[in-house]
Amino acid sequence: MAEIKSSKIDGIETFSTEIDGEKIEWDTELTYNSHLQTKRLLSSQVGVSGEPDETLFIVVHQTMELWIKLCLHELRIAIKCIQDDQLSRSFKTFDRIASIQRHMIQSWEILATLTPHDFLTFRGYLRKASGFQSHQYRELEFMLGNKNKDLIAVHQNEKEIHNALTKILNEPSLYDEALRLLAKKGFEIPSAALKRDWSKKYQASPEIERAWKIIYEDTEKYWELYMLAERITSLEYYFQEWRFKHMKTVSRVIGHSPGTAGSSGVEYLRKALNISFFPELWSMRTKLSAERQENFNECPL
Ligand code: HEM
Repeated sequence: MAEIKSSKIDGIETFSTEIDGEKIEWDTELTYNSHLQTKRLLSSQVGVSGEPDETLFIVVHQTMELWIKLCLHELRIAIKCIQDDQLSRSFKTFDRIASIQRHMIQSWEILATLTPHDFLTFRGYLRKASGFQSHQYRELEFMLGNKNKDLIAVHQNEKEIHNALTKILNEPSLYDEALRLLAKKGFEIPSAALKRDWSKKYQASPEIERAWKIIYEDTEKYWELYMLAERITSLEYYFQEWRFKHMKTVSRVIGHSPGTAGSSGVEYLRKALNISFFPELWSMRTKLSAERQENFNECPL
C-alpha cells in the first residue's frame, strides 16, 4: 500500500501519494464524484421490471436526455448571438450542436441491439410511459419552431414543466430570430412574420424564400448570413436524421404495434418526418437549381 501524505494547502486538507512513479494528489474540498454528482447520477437507473435488458433502455434514454439538455443550453446561446448580430460567435455554438446531434444519431445503434424479445420482457411494466412525454424534446421542438400547443396537454399534472413549455411556446423560435435579423439587415420580410402570435405554427412565405435565395445567389456579399443559413439547415438535417433512426429502431423493436402512449407507433413517427422547421431554406434550393439548370442548358460544353 502506497504511503499517503497529508498537508493543508490554502486551508484545504490535501493528500498525496505515488502510484506507478506518478505523484497523485486530491483534496477534500472538491472531488470528481462531488463535482459530477456521480452518486446521484449512477443511482438514477431504477427499473420497474427487474429484467436485465431494461438497464440498456434506461441508460440510452437518460443519455439522450442529457444530450438534449446540452443542445437546449447551446441553442439558447446561439439564439442570443443572433439577437445581438454576433453571427461568427454563433457558428462555434451551432457546430457544437451539430456534433452532439451526430453523436445522438449514432447512439441509436446501441439501442438497436434490443431485440423484440428483449423489449417484450419489460414492455408491459412501462404502462403508458413514453418518450412522447419528454418535455425537453418538446422544448427543443418549440425552440426550433415546431409549435403545437396541444402537445403540452400530457404535462397538465406537472405544473412547473407545463408553465415552462407554455412560456417557450409563446416566444420567438430560432427561425423567427433569424428572420428578424434578415429584416434588420434590410431584407424584405413580411410584417406578418415579424410580429405575430409566436405560439402559432410558422407559415412559409414566398418573400422569405426570395430573401434566402438572394443570399445564396451572392454568397460573397452575404457570407455570414449564408453560413448562418447552412448551419440552421444542418440543425434540421440532423434533427430529421435522429427522427428517422428513432422510427427505424422502433420499427425493428415493435414492428407496427401501437406505442406505449397509445399512438399508431411507427406510423406516427413516420408522419413527423414531414415536419420542417425552416421551410424556405429547403424550398429555395429547388428554385436555385432550377435556374442554374437553364444555364447548364446554354453551356456549349
Ligand atoms: C425501444 C426503444 C423505443 C421505442 C419502442 C420507442 C417507441 C416510441 C413510440 C411508439 C412513440 C410514439 C408515441 C407512443 O405512442 O408511445 C415514441 C415517441 C417518442 N420517443 Fe420513443 N421509443 C424508443 C426509444 C426512444 C428513445 C431512446 C428516446 C430518446 C429520448 C425516445 C424519445 C421519444 C420522443 C421524444 C417521442 C415523441 C416524438 C414526437 O412526438 O414526435 N424514444 N417512441
